[in-house]
Amino acid sequence: MPAISFQNVSKTYPGARGASRPVRALDDVSFDIQPGEFFGLLGPNGAGKTTLISILAGLARASTGRVTVLGHDVVDDYPAARRSLGIVPQELVFDPFFSVREALRIQSGYFGARSDKRANDAWIDELLAHLGLADKADANMRQLSGGMKRRVLVAQALVHRPPVIVLDEPTAGVDVELRQTLWQFVARLNREGHTVLLTTHYLEEAEALCGRLAMLKQGRIVALDRTSALLAGTASTMLRFKMDAPLPASLAAQSRVTGRIVQITAHDAHEVETILGVLRNAGCHPEDLEIGRADLEDVFLEIMNGAPA
Ligand SMILES: Nc1ncnc2c1ncn2[C@@H]1O[C@H](COP(=O)(O)OP(=O)(O)OP(=O)(O)O)[C@@H](O)[C@H]1O
Ligand SMILES: [Mg+2]
Repeated sequence: MPAISFQNVSKTYPGARGASRPVRALDDVSFDIQPGEFFGLLGPNGAGKTTLISILAGLARASTGRVTVLGHDVVDDYPAARRSLGIVPQELVFDPFFSVREALRIQSGYFGARSDKRANDAWIDELLAHLGLADKADANMRQLSGGMKRRVLVAQALVHRPPVIVLDEPTAGVDVELRQTLWQFVARLNREGHTVLLTTHYLEEAEALCGRLAMLKQGRIVALDRTSALLAGTASTMLRFKMDAPLPASLAAQSRVTGRIVQITAHDAHEVETILGVLRNAGCHPEDLEIGRADLEDVFLEIMNGAPA
């Protein structure tokens, strides 16, 4: 039985009152995530990732289609589906009146976590320690910084030890150190058998963590495969260099420019030579030239720009 199953899920939001047209946020999305997978859901802003997660969480209704969590339908069998899930939402939502520990205890009670209060408190302490919140346990939620509030959301999602963990951009606005501890912790939970569904715009994280990936574009799945297969099936070489002059127009289509850093994809050594020739003939002087393997960001851009994967 899949951990999560999306079957022909579509979602249309009504347009804002009056003028605008309805928004087709999801268009016939189908895929399964198996128990124990570390699965990544990628896509540009507005692709439909949060909409899909909201439907999974029972916060939004699919216009058509069906979603199950460990066999429980998220509509017909909502309580069982919701109990199987730990969801870290993209938006920071919290109750300003409670301390961190109170918020976690309430959440744990809400899910009817065991009456064994001592075991619960021990787990809450472990979560606080792993998420770098131990010294904030009695702080009021209002007194936390943005990144700390996000850590509390992560702890809240895990407090009832859900078998399926869903993280919607958990590392947005989170510092480097916590990002690393968070991933170590989530990877450990995954090794212990928890299924993980992650959305992130940090593609190095997705590449490092996720065994399988789906890419959404305008509500449709445009790629779904093992991470290694997605990486292998693309232009495999990448030239990176720094340059002050503008890039020759003939290279623009296959390049990515960030400030003075230029990255150009090449399919083989011959194409690398051609690119260097074009640069030389245009009188360009690339600095710090490196030739490396294409990464997930390159694959992602190639797929999103409609090039064959
Ligand atoms: N409550 C809503 N009412 C109307 N339209 C919505 C609503 N929520 C999302 N949308 C629209 O649905 C589409 C998908 O949005 P969604 O939040 O699912 O994207 P996302 O992939 O999570 O993006 P991001 O990477 O920015 O978080 C967008 O066009 C968005 O404007
Ligand atoms: Mg989102």
